[in-house]
Amino acid sequence: MSVLKRSKRLFLLCLGALSVSCSQRVDQYFERTALPDQVVPLYDEVAAFKARGGSKPDTKGVTKKLHLDLGFLVQDSKVRRAVIAPFDDANWYEPIEVTLEGTRATVELDLSRDFLVALDLGEPARNGYQAMAQLGAAGGLIPGALKPRLCQLILCSPESFPLTEIDKRLPEVNDLPFEIGNVLPPLPVGPVGRKGTVCDACFDRGPSIVPCFLYKWCGDFPIVRWVHVRRNIYSLSPAEITTLRAGVATMKARPQTDPTSWWYQAKMHALDSGTALALQDQCQHRQFLFFSWHRMFVYYFERILRAATGDASFAQPYWNYTDNPSQGPIPEPYRLPASATTNALYDPTRAAIYNGGAALPPSDVSYASGFNLTNFTSASAGVPSFGGLTVTGAQHFPSGGGSGQIERSPHNNVHNDISGDMAGGESPKDPVFWLHHSNIDRLWKRWLALGNGRANPTTDTVWMTHAFTFFDETGAQKTLTGAQVLNTVTQLGYRYDDDPYIDWPLVRLPLLMKEVKPWEPPEPIVSIKRPVALGRERVDVPVRVPGKDRSLLATSLAADPAHERIVLRLLDIRYDAPVGVTYLLFLNLPPDARNPDQTDPSFIGTLGFFGGSHHGAAMEAGLAEEYDITRVAHRLRLSGDLVVSAFPSLPVVPEGRKDLQALRDRLRPNGNPRFGEIVLQRSRVR
Ligand code: C2O
Repeated sequence: MSVLKRSKRLFLLCLGALSVSCSQRVDQYFERTALPDQVVPLYDEVAAFKARGGSKPDTKGVTKKLHLDLGFLVQDSKVRRAVIAPFDDANWYEPIEVTLEGTRATVELDLSRDFLVALDLGEPARNGYQAMAQLGAAGGLIPGALKPRLCQLILCSPESFPLTEIDKRLPEVNDLPFEIGNVLPPLPVGPVGRKGTVCDACFDRGPSIVPCFLYKWCGDFPIVRWVHVRRNIYSLSPAEITTLRAGVATMKARPQTDPTSWWYQAKMHALDSGTALALQDQCQHRQFLFFSWHRMFVYYFERILRAATGDASFAQPYWNYTDNPSQGPIPEPYRLPASATTNALYDPTRAAIYNGGAALPPSDVSYASGFNLTNFTSASAGVPSFGGLTVTGAQHFPSGGGSGQIERSPHNNVHNDISGDMAGGESPKDPVFWLHHSNIDRLWKRWLALGNGRANPTTDTVWMTHAFTFFDETGAQKTLTGAQVLNTVTQLGYRYDDDPYIDWPLVRLPLLMKEVKPWEPPEPIVSIKRPVALGRERVDVPVRVPGKDRSLLATSLAADPAHERIVLRLLDIRYDAPVGVTYLLFLNLPPDARNPDQTDPSFIGTLGFFGGSHHGAAMEAGLAEEYDITRVAHRLRLSGDLVVSAFPSLPVVPEGRKDLQALRDRLRPNGNPRFGEIVLQRSRVR
């Protein structure tokens, strides 16, 4: 029987039918189209078929025994099992498990349904695919040349091996800016059991690698077309930019007392002066409501802007300043024409060097320290986390520490470097704010897709239930809680154009999980109080570890890094005005190092500044920052005295731009940035 065909065209036809008939209710749509659970773990190799009757209603209930030859899928593999999932325009139906005889399977199917075949390649191969998908979420942090080698090793090694041994087989993984053991769990991976396709095409497409050939066959399937897609700003067409610009201009033209106006929205974030109108001045920073509050804020803003553009398909683009050096500059439509009257996306208050086209320093836009961590939140100050300190209620801009690592880098750094409006509480006045926060929101999804225990703090009642209120596009007040913004597709109706494969609405891969171990409250090893002023030149701060504390440091370093972390904290950080320069920090950097950057083995992180002096007031109390220096400490075999060095990070100026070079040479921090204390501490991980 060769009535069954597989082709990309058929696949897309099916998709076409699905999209046309789907209702506008997000949750309903998701229920209809999510793959049945039984198929999900067997997604390894999938193809869609059209049964003989296609989706014709007149074949409904007419079943037929079909003999499938899956040779093109099975190829040289040792696959013995498959799952067949029937579907039509409206539903998925109960999947049918089949055992293969050679490359053949026999199954009885309703001819009005199409169906999808998923092969079961076995546990180790499945682990391999999932491991690759998790690594894919960190794609931007993996050097291009290493990607195919990782893929070859994980999916195409001749025999199985535990992922814990990956550094022995590929020592280069130790140089990645994150710890590979924090992404890959200690499970065995094994060959997919076939030659060709997979291994040649690894890492071909975007940040999501797996299964590469699935992408090839499926084109855009299973992307849900009507879900609003937030795209990379660099990929918008001139017509789309025109629409965006016009929408912003419309919002800017509305009276400032109109909640759907540009200016009202900016002040919902925070006020730099004046009195707050309804729902203004409420942004959440320096604690674990940062991500969820900003997701809600951008979501309602996007709805208002969509209405203002008059384009029902409009979605807020994002700026991925990290992963591609050519996208480091502020996107051109936001800089040119450089006129606030003709270009609603332009903001003249930004640092001239960035409005002129220089790229943000790669150190300042790195998300590596946040991605390395597996804990969303932390209950004690001084313990690094992805998403910030646990709090018991809303907090606007609390003093002290508490920011998660992504809030610091890239988030604060981008605000700080771009300067002008971006440096203040009313930063949403600068259209770049929305590009920036769309990207921060995207990084949240991506972090979750790294797996290995990374998860939202859904057991925390405050995080889940605290309600925040915003205005929608009609000016009506709307309330959302953390529990209502967990899934951007099913709950909010949007996704990003490069959402990791793991996170796609139709094929949801289970993540390889390892339990996340909480960090215990930190214990100081040594602390020195000393005022340190940061300027234009390198600053070295020696930290002497007294004899009696050296053994503490030595014990800590002798411990397994999986159970003992070393953290450096800067305390009493102050500045009197927006600083505009971010600092690179190093540990025991050679005195003659010239222009070291984030790739230097001594690099421990950045120090940026945001939101300290909004409301025009001086900072109430000092801030704090923490750096997980475990890897660097091990690498440098830290023993006694250390030196912390700070360098200003500098914009990347395009070749031949003398004007920008001159601006870079003149770049100086404002506001007298300084700190007063350095603490070295250990924290056990239970
Ligand atoms: Cu609430 Cu980027 O700021």
